[in-house]
Amino acid sequence: MPPVEAPAGWSLARRDAFRAFHRASFGGLDGPTRTRMYAIVAGGEVVGMVRMTRRDEPGTVETGMWLGRSARGRGLGAAALRELLNAAAAAGMHTVVAETKPDNQGAVSVLRKCGAELREKGGKLHARMCLDAVLPAR
Ligand SMILES: CC(C)(COP(=O)(O)OP(=O)(O)OC[C@H]1O[C@@H](n2cnc3c(N)ncnc32)[C@H](O)[C@@H]1OP(=O)(O)O)[C@@H](O)C(=O)NCCC(=O)NCCS
Repeated sequence: MPPVEAPAGWSLARRDAFRAFHRASFGGLDGPTRTRMYAIVAGGEVVGMVRMTRRDEPGTVETGMWLGRSARGRGLGAAALRELLNAAAAAGMHTVVAETKPDNQGAVSVLRKCGAELREKGGKLHARMCLDAVLPAR
């Protein structure tokens, strides 16, 4: 989410911004944000979000995700990204890209588990997943 000008914590302003950020993508891949978001549900509760955003290059989307702190470190990130790759293929995409920071160990691990090709450039880590390739078993 973009930063919110509001007092720290789960304040009303931050809740409103959080809802607005996710509702803005209700239009999906062909809507104003060119983004389709999926809730990540575990144990009957929404614990995170994974998205794909249409890029200018045909057949290519960018992914990003978050999990609530209490839902991290349980393998849900890789499971959600695998589902996202399947959804992207079903939507006719051939490539999923992602961008993160090289020190984001959780994200790097999840991307590796999903077979991403990683390249570091200008302090950023660029990941590329080709949907024609077979996904690693885990
Ligand atoms: C990135 C994220 C989705 C990963 O999901 P996850 O379900 O926690 O991932 P996993 O449970 O598969 O853990 C991934 C690995 O990272 C490790 N890890 C996770 N957080 C870590 C941390 N802070 N420091 C060191 N290692 C960490 C886990 O131990 C695990 O290691 P393993 O693959 O060797 O078993 C989640 O941490 C998150 O929401 N982070 C905040 C938002 C974010 O950074 N999103 C990605 C931006 S591109």
